[in-house]
Amino acid sequence: MIFAAILAGGIGSRMGGTDTPKQFLTLGDKPVIVHTIEKFVINSKFDKIIVLSPKSFINHTNNLIKEYFDESDKIIVLEGGETRNDTIMNSINYITENFDIDEDSIIVTHDSVRPFVTHRIIEDNINAAKEFGACDTVIPATDTIVESVDGDVIKNIPIRDNYYQGQTPQSFKINKLSKLINSLSVDETNILTDACKIFVLKGEEVHLVDGEITNIKITYPYDLKLANTILKGN
Ligand code: CTP
Repeated sequence: MIFAAILAGGIGSRMGGTDTPKQFLTLGDKPVIVHTIEKFVINSKFDKIIVLSPKSFINHTNNLIKEYFDESDKIIVLEGGETRNDTIMNSINYITENFDIDEDSIIVTHDSVRPFVTHRIIEDNINAAKEFGACDTVIPATDTIVESVDGDVIKNIPIRDNYYQGQTPQSFKINKLSKLINSLSVDETNILTDACKIFVLKGEEVHLVDGEITNIKITYPYDLKLANTILKGN
């Protein structure tokens, strides 16, 4: 089986200025999260699309899905977790409790605030997760990366060609991800804020999928302006 998890459990504190989390703000003529869900709904390979939202926005999310999607029985809304990884874990727990999954079942996890993910990126994620067990969507780093431990003095300037910027989706074989997460100590759980990092630190390969520079994450108010410009460009 193939699942999508649209991660919308955050509150968007860096966006500021509003009590409405950024995934529910309007981009063009509809909420950001609707643009994002649309990209997954049009891909018929998904058995279920799980949307994880803050508890106080679950009703709102369900209403949006009824309003915008005819295929609403394919979409399930659940409560997100305290951290992004907790949100992913809520989707994994739901899947393992409610579906008869096998070793090849995969989950494509995606930030709800990356509305410009493409069909090609999603397809590449499905294929890479099936073949390799785990993948991360990236673009080559364009700025020089400067490392500083104290925030004052440069410790290292690594070779830029070896560095990439992580986007999403990040996709995994569900059983493998679930086993790795359950094997983490409390200390590891607190440090490993990225699901791909769990694989890497446990010695498992994570393959790269080419992202797109337009697959931006809406983090700050400027990003929402940029997103409107990208939308108009399309
Ligand atoms: N996310 C989530 N559950 C959390 C935290 C984040 O599902 N507990 C989701 C967000 O909703 C977002 C994505 O992960 O779609 C990327 O995270 P980020 O941009 O950091 O979102 P927020 O945590 O909402 O933003 P901020 O850090 O500014 O509060």
